[in-house]
Amino acid sequence: MDQIETKRLLLRKLIASDAVRIEKLAGDYDVAKTTLNIPHPYPEGSASDFIESRHRAEEKKSIAAFAIVEKESQLFIGLINLNLSAPHSRGELAYWIGKDYWRKGYGTEAVEALIAYGFQVLHLHKIYAASFISNPGSWRVMEKAGLKYEGTLRQHVARLGEFHDLVYYGLLKEAYEDGLNREIALKD
Ligand SMILES: CC(C)(COP(=O)(O)OP(=O)(O)OC[C@H]1O[C@@H](n2cnc3c(N)ncnc32)[C@H](O)[C@@H]1OP(=O)(O)O)[C@@H](O)C(=O)NCCC(=O)NCCS
Repeated sequence: MDQIETKRLLLRKLIASDAVRIEKLAGDYDVAKTTLNIPHPYPEGSASDFIESRHRAEEKKSIAAFAIVEKESQLFIGLINLNLSAPHSRGELAYWIGKDYWRKGYGTEAVEALIAYGFQVLHLHKIYAASFISNPGSWRVMEKAGLKYEGTLRQHVARLGEFHDLVYYGLLKEAYEDGLNREIALKD
């Protein structure tokens, strides 16, 4: 399945022309600062390499990565992926949305869709995610999407000159199937 449609979003595979929007939106310090991996400042021209590396990882089945497109404007607005661990049948969620699109419910809508994809299409056993404790936008998205708090790793990562506590949230397939999450019927 190459794309997932929600009420307001289209999650589709990354394409080369997404590079321009990735550099513009992820180049914003406010977007990069609460992620573990977005470089800051964003090196000019490097989003194309990033997209290619995502495609290679997809071929190896170590990731399921999607561009988030706002249906109304048809614009690329962010990225979401599941880092996959086949031996454990586990996926780790990671996501960012461009700042102009925050607080419209898009983060929650994209995460709910990828959870449905992870359990219904990839047949994962567990989906989890980590966020800085200082990033309520991210852990609220997890809570709203049905993930449960599992614990905190204190001052676990150094990012842009500061140490951060990481909170972990997770959702097991059995809880998902018990209806803790809204059922999302995925179309082929
Ligand atoms: C985290 C992020 C994806 C949230 O996306 P979003 O589309 O704004 O999230 P939603 O609109 O679905 O909001 C979900 C909940 O979080 C709350 N929220 C969002 N941003 C918030 C903020 N900065 N502070 C406090 N609460 C926030 C919303 O109010 C909502 O809760 P509510 O319904 O109880 O009011 C977005 O802020 C982002 O991309 N941040 C930078 C990158 C990042 O941190 N990624 C996650 C790394 S783990």
